[in-house]
Amino acid sequence: MASQRRGAFIVLEGLDRSGKSTQAAALVSRLKTINGENSAKLMKFPDRTTTIGKMIDAYLRSQNELDDHTIHLLFSANRWELVSAINADLAAGITIVCDRYAFSGCAFSAAKGLPYDWCIAPDKGLPEPDLTVFLDLTPAVAKLRGGYGEERYEKEELQRKVRVLFHSIGKQMKGGKWQEIDASSSIEEVEKAIWKHVEPFSDGCTSSINGLWIE
Ligand code: TMP
Ligand code: MG
Repeated sequence: MASQRRGAFIVLEGLDRSGKSTQAAALVSRLKTINGENSAKLMKFPDRTTTIGKMIDAYLRSQNELDDHTIHLLFSANRWELVSAINADLAAGITIVCDRYAFSGCAFSAAKGLPYDWCIAPDKGLPEPDLTVFLDLTPAVAKLRGGYGEERYEKEELQRKVRVLFHSIGKQMKGGKWQEIDASSSIEEVEKAIWKHVEPFSDGCTSSINGLWIE
């Protein structure tokens, strides 16, 4: 008997201005072209549309001040409030392409100086992505891209620390679930590199979803 296929959970991570949003949208279109209009969905964290998301948005635009721990927990809560929607979509066979996830949560807050173990704790047990593709770019190159510096964390010094943390988070992800690609080339080249990793997941998965950062 053929086992039930679920949607794949694919995450794109990277520094600010690494091209994640463009690539996530392109990936969803590609998956829809292959498998149909209702086969894939784009998500993004932070999801600024919820009540928690609006607080995060105000913080990122420097319209309010929050303690580092508080904003970290809000970012995490913003993921937890969407877990039932994620699980329902995956179970319905819809592949989710997610622009940022808990890896950003940990990398940014740890770069600000919060302890690593404290940072990952609230996100433990979230649905674990089947694949995370890290779009690697130096902060110096990212800085040259349009709109840089508009939001709170778009500072070269902080982004340098975030990049180091992303690399060390990735090293701890086992079983090929974390892949890094060079995001400094053209949009088309980056799209090709991402697809190489995503293609094996393009008709979904049969395994059950694990809990993130749970042994
Ligand atoms: P965005 O530019 O993708 O909308 O993300 C907004 C900023 O929030 C970005 O600088 C990364 C940061 N961030 C965190 O600090 N923690 C998180 O959990 C997430 C998802 C993003
Ligand atoms: Mg940004």
